[in-house]
Amino acid sequence: MATQFYTGSSLDGFIATPEHDLGWLTSRDIDPAGPMHYEAFAEDVGALVMGASTYQWMLDHLGEMGDRWPYEQPTWVFTHRKFPEPPGDIRFASGSVAAVHADAVAAAGEKHVWLVGGGDLVGQFADAGLLDEIWVQFAPVTLGAGAPLLPRHLELELKEVARNRDFVCARYDVVR
Ligand SMILES: NC(=O)c1ccc[n+]([C@@H]2O[C@H](COP(=O)([O-])OP(=O)(O)OC[C@H]3O[C@@H](n4cnc5c(N)ncnc54)[C@H](OP(=O)(O)O)[C@@H]3O)[C@@H](O)[C@H]2O)c1
Repeated sequence: MATQFYTGSSLDGFIATPEHDLGWLTSRDIDPAGPMHYEAFAEDVGALVMGASTYQWMLDHLGEMGDRWPYEQPTWVFTHRKFPEPPGDIRFASGSVAAVHADAVAAAGEKHVWLVGGGDLVGQFADAGLLDEIWVQFAPVTLGAGAPLLPRHLELELKEVARNRDFVCARYDVVR
């Protein structure tokens, strides 16, 4: 089973503004049943991993998600912070990503591990040789600055590309 980074990005390679705003992304048009969209991807997700800023964004926007944590799958959050009692099946971790990856793969069973972001955390998995695929929906916008998509030099192989309304969607394998 694969370890996948699936994310939206600006054309110039940022996944959030410097203020962690995602309005430039969530305001765009995408077909939920269209090519390479989240719903089909999410069916095969068995475990999630994210960093502290991404988790904080989720907590700050729970109201837009029906006031409930949207994932039933186990989720690992990398952080040094002390967060309040989590709203779902959330485990906090820090340090090396390898042990968490092994636990997430075991929890995911036949399904995939979704690295939600941010980019440097995904880079830590890549550094350890644990990143298999990158799926990016490129929004028609440049931001000029912000949270980087994946601040590493990785060689990739383009496996699939599609247009979904406002977005160019691309899927890559990481070449090891
Ligand atoms: N466009 C999209 O689809 C998309 C997808 C995902 C995320 N996002 C957004 O992108 C932004 C990402 O923010 P970000 O670049 O700051 O990345 P992040 O990975 O969400 O958060 C970074 C933080 O994670 C913690 N962390 C990372 N590696 C760690 C490790 N090995 N051990 C312990 N803690 C570790 C550290 O937090 P501490 O402060 O606790 O040390 C670090 O400051 C967020 O605004 C998020 O909402 C957008």
